[in-house]
Amino acid sequence: MTEQSRFDRIGGADAVRAVVDRFYDLMEHEPGYAALRAMHQADLFPMRVSLAEFLGGWLGGPRLWFDARPCACMMSIHRDMGITRETAAQWVHAMSRAMAECRVDPALGAEMQQAFLHMAGGMMRE
Ligand code: HEM
Repeated sequence: MTEQSRFDRIGGADAVRAVVDRFYDLMEHEPGYAALRAMHQADLFPMRVSLAEFLGGWLGGPRLWFDARPCACMMSIHRDMGITRETAAQWVHAMSRAMAECRVDPALGAEMQQAFLHMAGGMMRE
């Protein structure tokens, strides 16, 4: 039996896009994510595309984001953003809520949450 990729387990591109859309909707409308929202451009549409393409490839699906940026490193992209403990926690919290509300399989959601916590920890600069 061939092992399913995490991209298949989450439900493919539509499911990834739903999580990403919910993530940015929460960021946009919930006061608890105001500091995180303030770091982003007024128009979140490009981020909705970018994060969905990144996550799709990262989960084992089409590598759109990676193919468009052959040498890009996610950690380097965030290095000079001045990410604090507060904004890192807001990112991880909003993503965790988005995954739960979109009914991502709990075991897969927990795996992804661990990886996001790890990445966010490395992106913090204070
Ligand atoms: C630790 C907390 C994080 C904060 C505060 C943060 C913040 C930001 C900000 C402010 C931008 C630029 C947005 C804009 O131009 O409007 C950005 C870009 C981006 N972030 Fe994060 N981020 C965090 C963690 C992450 C993580 C863990 C991932 C991936 C799992 C991620 C994926 C992305 C992507 C894909 C982009 C777009 C880069 C591009 O396509 O050029 N971020 N982030």
